Amino acid sequence: MHTIRQRLTFWYTVALAVTLGVFGTLLYLERRQSALRELDRRLGLEVDLANRWLSESYNVLGRIVTTAGSRPSLDPGISAYLEAVRDYVVVADTSGNVLALSEASRALNADALQRLTAPLDTLRAPKEAGTINLEEGVGSLRWVALRVEAAGPEIGSLMVATPTSEIAFGPAELLRSMLIIAPIILLAAALLGYWLAGTFLRPVQNIMDEIEAISDGRSLHRRLAVPMSDDEMARLTLTVNGMLARLEQSFGSLHRFTADASHELKTPLMVLRAGVERALVHPGVPAEILQSLDETLAQLNEMTELVESLLTLARADEGRAPLAVEESDLRALVSDVVETAGMLGESSGIVVTSTLPDHPVRLAVDPHRIREMLLNLITNAIKYTPQGGTVDLSLADQEDAVSITVLDTGIGIAAGDLPHIFERFWRADPARSRTGDRPGTGLGLAITKWIAEAHGGSITVQSRPGRGTIFTVRLPRAGAVPIIPRGARSTPAREAAAAPAAKAP
Ligand SMILES: Nc1ncnc2c1ncn2[C@@H]1O[C@H](COP(=O)(O)OP(=O)(O)OP(=O)(O)O)[C@@H](O)[C@H]1O
Ligand SMILES: [Mg+2]
Repeated sequence: MHTIRQRLTFWYTVALAVTLGVFGTLLYLERRQSALRELDRRLGLEVDLANRWLSESYNVLGRIVTTAGSRPSLDPGISAYLEAVRDYVVVADTSGNVLALSEASRALNADALQRLTAPLDTLRAPKEAGTINLEEGVGSLRWVALRVEAAGPEIGSLMVATPTSEIAFGPAELLRSMLIIAPIILLAAALLGYWLAGTFLRPVQNIMDEIEAISDGRSLHRRLAVPMSDDEMARLTLTVNGMLARLEQSFGSLHRFTADASHELKTPLMVLRAGVERALVHPGVPAEILQSLDETLAQLNEMTELVESLLTLARADEGRAPLAVEESDLRALVSDVVETAGMLGESSGIVVTSTLPDHPVRLAVDPHRIREMLLNLITNAIKYTPQGGTVDLSLADQEDAVSITVLDTGIGIAAGDLPHIFERFWRADPARSRTGDRPGTGLGLAITKWIAEAHGGSITVQSRPGRGTIFTVRLPRAGAVPIIPRGARSTPAREAAAAPAAKAP
């Protein structure tokens, strides 16, 4: 049972089954008890009636016991009345000896009869009742015995008994009915419980769906819709909304800090670079100073690039890096990049080829960002391909998308590294210095991925170590990117106000 809904249904059904069981047992016992009381009442009436018959017969006749046979017995004329009684009837004298029996009692064997009449020997109260088990086909009997006072000195006591199986019928029927009905009730209750649990848990399901949509990292400005009710769900939603607000705040200040720091670094870096460049062209500078100035300039260029990349990513995180989208010819863009790549490849001893369609490929994109993306991919391809290798850049015009492929015959990427290459600052070989033979900061692919996704597209990679790598960017044709006028900036606060699902607590 994986879900709360299933567990709730299960335990609800178990609880109902136990309740039904206890209720049924109590009902059964109570039915039995009241049936026994009813039986005692009937036996009591019968024994009273027989008592009156004996007493009145005695009053009329004077003597009702004959000693004509071998043993004293009730006068046949009077005992004929007892014959008519369906139950076990026993009339005994004061010392417990049997004077008369009904037909049913006569059918008992001597042993059973003796056990039946045993209570008569020790009769203390005027009227007593009890249960006796005779077994052997007769089973359990309920009896009521009476001390006979007014039927002459020879008559001592009187007993009427009847099998309890007669009364067992009612409660047994009840038990059978309950056993048939209980599973139906339980099944119906389980279905109802499952439905109810689903209904009550639906708000939780909705909250989970909403949180999933929000926690993709870019929608922290969104809030859950707070239900009108004043229950646990409303509190849960408010708590989550509060947490989202705090998360948004801390993420926001983190991004703002990076963006502000990068921005503040740009101007001093520019001043530094201008100073070094001026010093480089100054006449009469010794050769060794010139060399160290050259190295400083290279480092400064690296740093400027890093700061630019950080600023781009920080602004993208903040949602403050809008695309200046315009209808552009991708073929012209790509062939322009191929030209630059050709020059880069030449100095590294790498052949750069391209496959372009013979017609213009028009698409609404930010041409500067797309150019940046292609340059990132192509410089990677050249950087990670040894001398004598090949790099190919191809553009394909498909029905609903445009795909751009950058292929190289370079060192490739290990399968275990592939999931990490788009992470910020990740490099396959971090031990290699940022300025060594393959300089870099590890931000290029992170920016590339952001550009592809900001255009509603995607980027995928396939690679085999030692054989080469293929990066494929897919840009969809249809309305993936809203056209934002150049220079427009959206702030998180404005986005939050515009988001339809957002609702302030
Ligand atoms: N075409 C490629 N062939 C082999 N490895 C590659 C290729 N492209 C990227 N990589 C691996 O992915 C890592 C990340 O690439 P990314 O472009 O983000 O960083 P970088 O090139 O090292 O630095 P920079 O920020 O200057 O681009 C690289 O360090 C490299 O290990
Ligand atoms: Mg790179």
